[in-house]
Amino acid sequence: MSHSTQPQPMTARRSGPLKGNALVPGDKSVSHRALILGALAVGETRITGLLESQDVIDTARAMEAFGASVERLGPGEWRVQGVGVGGFSSPETVIDCGNSGTGVRLIMGAMATTPITATFTGDASLSRRPMRRITGPLGLFGAQVTAREGEFLPVTIQGAADPLPLRYRTPVASAQIKSAVLLAGLNAPGETVVIEAEPTRDHTERMLAGFGATIRTEVTDEGHVITLTGRPELRPCAVAVPRDPSSAAFPVAAALIVPGSEIRVEGVSRNPTRDGLYHVLAEMGADLTWENDRIEGGEPVADLTVRHGPLHGVTVPAERAASMIDEFPILSVIAAFAEGSTVMNGVAELRVKESDRIDAMARGLEANGGRVEETRDSLTVHGTGGLKGGATVATHLDHRIAMSFLVAGLVSERPITVDDAGPIATSFPDFVALMRSLGAELG
Ligand code: S3P
Repeated sequence: MSHSTQPQPMTARRSGPLKGNALVPGDKSVSHRALILGALAVGETRITGLLESQDVIDTARAMEAFGASVERLGPGEWRVQGVGVGGFSSPETVIDCGNSGTGVRLIMGAMATTPITATFTGDASLSRRPMRRITGPLGLFGAQVTAREGEFLPVTIQGAADPLPLRYRTPVASAQIKSAVLLAGLNAPGETVVIEAEPTRDHTERMLAGFGATIRTEVTDEGHVITLTGRPELRPCAVAVPRDPSSAAFPVAAALIVPGSEIRVEGVSRNPTRDGLYHVLAEMGADLTWENDRIEGGEPVADLTVRHGPLHGVTVPAERAASMIDEFPILSVIAAFAEGSTVMNGVAELRVKESDRIDAMARGLEANGGRVEETRDSLTVHGTGGLKGGATVATHLDHRIAMSFLVAGLVSERPITVDDAGPIATSFPDFVALMRSLGAELG
């Protein structure tokens, strides 16, 4: 659903120590994939712990539009009656993916090798994001694509009637490109191969294997080579969605920078394709205690206790960017409260997220007394142990920019206001309630 609601400004004020248990919601990436693979399986998939945020609801509606039946049974509990690989039918309406790049890109892949036609649209943020990175490889499968200015939504795809399997090297580290190609490869005969120079989040591969597809990943001289055998019959299965490490990063950051804080976050992902932030925080000197390592929903997780303490700046190597791509906005805030400079390298992809996140973070930090430097593909934050605050930040319809500055305002000298907290509902609908329950002053 595209959001036409009025902006909802929100202010964060200096807060006392944060204490308690932070139960963050289900993983957004895993939630989208559970709905899409459920729709492509033959029969009934049960999902528990689904993230019920706007992005994911938009994907659920889209799966219905392609012919699956999707039903909410209770909080986080959903049933998907799938139509099988190649079983999608042409939707009667335009598919509106709202704010979600993951939703639109994965769904385009999932329909592009079936002889149906669909038109995709989204909100103002999504309509500015590049789509050729997806429609290009989908065209190589044989799909016919038209896009505004060849690149942007609305995009119409006529799926290939006689798809060819693809061997594709991703031009940038992107799980969305990888996943779109793999989902398209499901309905192509033979083997579809995706080659990544740097590994990106591997939820699609893990879940495809769980649904019975034949898929393997090898590390070779070329990089990570993922090979999927096309035309499987996907078996419905029970998907238990783990908690979202990218959402966990916000209360974790708040506890690290608000003096006297100690919080516990249960079930934080230890998946090496998602846990880059936690390595950086350890290098910065953060007080992190991990316990109860286990597997939940097919993903390695552990419980994390975080205590406030002094932090120092570090250099984040480019090779680590993919494993923490959504965590750079909140890392920039943490870096402003550390002593010394934090250099984030190889982050050009941040310029094409829900907003240009390098620009949004740099401008927001500067307005609140921070010192930053940016290049096309790097961001440096010169930490001074604090932020003055007092300014209103432009969030550009970007949930993670909004949450990052609301965390910053909990410890800046003067309050920080974000111009629109509405988009937080795209990934973390209970963010404000959860942060308040820990003691954060948000209003
Ligand atoms: C996602 C992949 C990432 C990430 C996004 C979710 C996914 O994007 O930024 O929030 O679920 O595949 P890219 O793979 O394009 O970097």
